[in-house]
Amino acid sequence: MTRFDVQKTLSPALKTDLLAIVVSDTPDKGGLKPFRGLPVGLSASLIRAGKRQKFKAKAGEQIHLVDSGSDHIGQVLLVGLGTEKNFTLDSVRLALSRVGNRAADSKAKSLTVAVAVKPPKGADEQDFAQAAAEGLVLGGYRFDRFRKSTSSQESNGASGKLPARIGVIPEGMKQSARFAGGLKRGEVLARATCLARDLSNLPANYATPSHLADQARKTASGSRQITVKIFGPAEIRKEKMGAFLAVAQGAEEPCRFIVLQYRGTASSKAPVVVVGKGVTFDTGGISLKPVAKMDEMKHDMSGAAAVIGLFAALKELSPKVNVIGLAPCTENMPSGRAYRPGDIITSRSGKTVEVLNTDAEGRMLLIDALDYAKKYKPRAIIDLATLTGACVVSLGHTFAGLISNDDKLSASLLESASRTGDLLWRLPFHQDYLDLVKSKIADLKNTGGPDAGTLTAAAFLREFVDPKTPWAHCDIAGTAWLSGPSRYHPRGATGWGVRILADYLETSVH
Ligand code: BES
Ligand code: MN
Ligand code: ZN
Repeated sequence: MTRFDVQKTLSPALKTDLLAIVVSDTPDKGGLKPFRGLPVGLSASLIRAGKRQKFKAKAGEQIHLVDSGSDHIGQVLLVGLGTEKNFTLDSVRLALSRVGNRAADSKAKSLTVAVAVKPPKGADEQDFAQAAAEGLVLGGYRFDRFRKSTSSQESNGASGKLPARIGVIPEGMKQSARFAGGLKRGEVLARATCLARDLSNLPANYATPSHLADQARKTASGSRQITVKIFGPAEIRKEKMGAFLAVAQGAEEPCRFIVLQYRGTASSKAPVVVVGKGVTFDTGGISLKPVAKMDEMKHDMSGAAAVIGLFAALKELSPKVNVIGLAPCTENMPSGRAYRPGDIITSRSGKTVEVLNTDAEGRMLLIDALDYAKKYKPRAIIDLATLTGACVVSLGHTFAGLISNDDKLSASLLESASRTGDLLWRLPFHQDYLDLVKSKIADLKNTGGPDAGTLTAAAFLREFVDPKTPWAHCDIAGTAWLSGPSRYHPRGATGWGVRILADYLETSVH
């Protein structure tokens, strides 16, 4: 765990292995200005190095000095934020993630970050510090628990992780109390995101439905505001969750239905229900998937992981809202007991579903969870699911797809998306998409054919939500997982959803 300490200046009594300095581009002011928080000699030599290397502090620009010329400072990293007018909180996240990345890769046991800039337009000291802490922690993340003998071990003795303490010198920031508070918030949110990443990165032989249930319990423990209930197969049967059970019946590994409850305000206030798809491995079932990239289907529980991560954040941020987290968790396996194409299943709601493709399993789990959500009379329902390959085709790994029956909820989520960098793009609903999932022999069928796969899946889910309840479906098939590093994410799981949902709950729910 990383802690941030706000420091006024770089004290010569403290050693730092890595000193990072974040600067903005000031083209009209003739290059780098002296750094007030740093020793005069170092400040002067940085300015010289900057001139020599024509450093403009453009976004992403870096100078790396291996020798600082001072014995209590190891390497120095100068990082550009772009022009003062143009940089955003996301540029801050990005620049600081480079620092986190370098700190995790290098032998740094201690890290000091000096920020010689003002907060971007529309943001204050707290926002800036939060984005900085998020960037550092998200960029310094490594999933290395299965690598005992690798470079990351040699690095800082903490197996590639960030130093336990990071000093931050906020030059140019007036409100230092708000700055410190922002660092704390950012650290909490990034750590919760990394918990979701860990769960998604963890392969299916470890991250079983019972393991996710244990993690939900662990998240709830020690909190007076969070309670957890775990349903096993018997209770799930009692709930008549026929669609969820149809998927689960093919797996040896027992299924779990996780119910997390966070009480942040009077129980008379309707909660927001958050639902996460928890397929711990998706083989496709009898409609078996091809070999290529099937291993990646270990992250088909990223929705559930985000729900657990969100509760880890709620535990520490204590917002004044009520939240329910639901996560139906199972493997999707082919076996002698597996559900088949052609089967007709009765869901919890009583609506029947003709199974045409056992690989369209996510919506089977979700419809029973969405129906279960009704009992809370929620003020809004948001589901997160790695639901369709079609969403990856249309939006890639940059935006998650948003389909919603409510403009206000959509607008709030889109705002939270741009604030947090967990990006979302709204896609349409139309009766035509619903018609595509109507069956001739049951109420619905679980696939809508080759066209508009993301939208027919959403139309299918919509049938299980009360039309009067604002509902948003986030298809995170592309954003939950990256095959290479991008922005402040290393390859693998991104933890998409934790920060956007926390932001939405804190800013839009009153
Ligand atoms: N888990 C997959 C969707 C997915 C694909 C997630 C790629 C992440 C990356 C989902 O269960 C699935 O298999 N969907 C099918 C639906 C189809 C059979 C209607 C798909 O997208 O092919
Ligand atoms: Mn599938
Ligand atoms: Zn799936």
